[in-house]
Amino acid sequence: MRSDGLIEVRVAARQREAEGIDSFELAAPGGGALPAFAAGAHIDLHLDGGWVRPYSLCNPQDGGRCYRIAVQHEPSGRGGSAAVHAQLRPGSTLRIAPPRNLFALQDGTAPVLLLAGGIGITPLLGMAQTLHAAGRAFALVYCSASERRAAFAGALRRAPWAGRTTLHHDERHGRFDLAGLLAAQPAGTHAYVCGPAGFITAATACGWPAERMHVERFAPAPVPQAAPRTGAIEVQAGRGGPVVMVRADTPITVALARAGICIPVSCEQGICGTCATRVLEGQVEHRDFHLSAREQAQGLMLPCCSWARSSRLVLDL
Ligand code: FES
Repeated sequence: MRSDGLIEVRVAARQREAEGIDSFELAAPGGGALPAFAAGAHIDLHLDGGWVRPYSLCNPQDGGRCYRIAVQHEPSGRGGSAAVHAQLRPGSTLRIAPPRNLFALQDGTAPVLLLAGGIGITPLLGMAQTLHAAGRAFALVYCSASERRAAFAGALRRAPWAGRTTLHHDERHGRFDLAGLLAAQPAGTHAYVCGPAGFITAATACGWPAERMHVERFAPAPVPQAAPRTGAIEVQAGRGGPVVMVRADTPITVALARAGICIPVSCEQGICGTCATRVLEGQVEHRDFHLSAREQAQGLMLPCCSWARSSRLVLDL
């Protein structure tokens, strides 16, 4: 590991998995073992141009031989996926942060439902392999727009647990009945859901007990528009520290970075929690999808996306 805590890896393989989706196998340049991880973990890619983007690992832990990710090229996205597709060629090297897991499988014997929408299949693929190896009861339901946009469809059909998998393509089968699926699950089932914002919103709106529904977002849900804010706020880096004026159209992390005060970021969308910072003074308007009510009450905020209700915030920096 480097002195900055990052790991250098080499792109050992790249493969087309579906329309617009490529998988990348990342290995240690010298062939050594990479740090261990558990299903559901993600890594941050640090790309040329300053892009830092989190991607779920889709392979099971295999003795540290490689990390495998799959990335959907989003032509209308903010540029992270385009940078991945442009920069990661077999043989090229890049830096990554070690795996972190915010979407881990719960221990126990409860039945598991893995529910994927689109590229949300990535963390669930490793989970399915882990559950199968552990002999636990599970089902995987994978919804995609069409067959050609379903990454890993061939591998899923060939997997030893293929009988537990349902592939649903909206183009062929029509709209998927999420509510019906959830209502039919055995008592005590834990659901793990990953997919686009609309998919997650539909799943969480089905009335499933929150303590048994585990969600991983890779894009933020649409935020109900708060009253437009036009005024700037003052953000102070520590009591007695420098004060930065932040315009309403600029993320706090960006304004602070321009002033030379760096808070680590990854998704910059309020999803991953990398930028979590303690608030010493001021009232926060939370706009993220990561912090629990308890964490908010403990004074944490995600300044990559959240804002202030007061005219001034003092952050513990
Ligand atoms: S950088 Fe991901 S939540 Fe702020």
